[in-house]
Amino acid sequence: MKINIVKPFLPNFEEISEDLSNILDTGMVTNNSFHVRTFEEELQLFFSSEYRPTLYCNGEMGLYHLIQAWKHILGYSPHETFEVLVPSFTFSGTINAIIQNNLLPVFCDVDDTLVLDLDKLIVDTEKVKMIIVVGAYGNLPNLEKLKEISITHNLVVILDNAPAFGSQYKNHYPNKFGFCEMISLHATKIFSSMEGGLNIVNDPRVQDYLIRLRDYGQYEKLRGNIDIPGLNSKMQEISALVGRKNLEKVDYILNSRNANVQRYQEIFIPLESLGHIKTMRVLDDVKCTYLYYPIILNEDATEFVSFLEENNIFARRYYTANHMLDYYRGKYREQDLSFTQYIKDRIVSLPIHTEMSTEEINYIGEIVNSYFKQK
Ligand SMILES: Cc1ncc(COP(=O)(O)O)c(C=O)c1O
Repeated sequence: MKINIVKPFLPNFEEISEDLSNILDTGMVTNNSFHVRTFEEELQLFFSSEYRPTLYCNGEMGLYHLIQAWKHILGYSPHETFEVLVPSFTFSGTINAIIQNNLLPVFCDVDDTLVLDLDKLIVDTEKVKMIIVVGAYGNLPNLEKLKEISITHNLVVILDNAPAFGSQYKNHYPNKFGFCEMISLHATKIFSSMEGGLNIVNDPRVQDYLIRLRDYGQYEKLRGNIDIPGLNSKMQEISALVGRKNLEKVDYILNSRNANVQRYQEIFIPLESLGHIKTMRVLDDVKCTYLYYPIILNEDATEFVSFLEENNIFARRYYTANHMLDYYRGKYREQDLSFTQYIKDRIVSLPIHTEMSTEEINYIGEIVNSYFKQK
């Protein structure tokens, strides 16, 4: 048996062939045509959002534009800068989007929920204007506390919810609490359009800019005049079509993943009780959709990951401590990162696919248990 870290859930060719043929025949392959517009409307219904979600060629560009729009609204030119509080424990895409906007990350710590430790944040309001929270593995922090912090310190909050499609706080999607968020629709993610990303925002000015930013910043098409320097980051029709087909099955996707998480818990909670590992803490108010199943070992994970590989189970050492990556090391301010330092070499993400057989999950349980028995 071989278990890859990711198994994308996608429609089969028959499900999309007629629409695909139509896209190619009409030549309406891009420029926010029928499927992109319809997908946005369908996503608005799904998320019950006030504003229509905007789609992008990928999540990274969605996040880049979201930061760009807020920076512009705060009155900063592209050449000016300020600091952004962000967890070090994320994917480099989060930090790159900050730096490409000519802003300065301040690396902050996470706690055992693996998302930003809100109790530990130090906010220097002279320098810091924005906070980016990462919904690592689909987990979320206390969104009400986050709101309070943002009001007290007058901070823009952006949720990099790339991994958190479908996650909820107090039975609502995060937009209900007035946050702007980006969700990735990459093939590795919970819900996919092959490549893609979406932004859901809380402010009409941001929404207005986003619609232009993904189209080079053009506010009119005749002469292509711009009032903000955007890029081309539009989603293609074929991605939107695939996303729409997946959205028809979204309940199945989320329920099936949730059932798989429950089966993982039956394996890993006993191992936690024996003191071999720590699992991710999820707040009672949070419904976490688990992109991967993270476990924290008591030791460096190199040997464990090799053992899994020898047994054809492919895990990922994910997320990572960005303040230690070659490009970032020593360049930016850091707050106390003790928990990030503790987990960075000990954390392992195990695969959770939408469709996973009982045999596959039992096999993972068997192999992991045998690893700890031989220790
Ligand atoms: C936390 C985080 N931010 C941003 C991204 C970028 O999203 P995309 O791959 O859709 O560009 C990812 C993707 O893995 C991510 O995990």
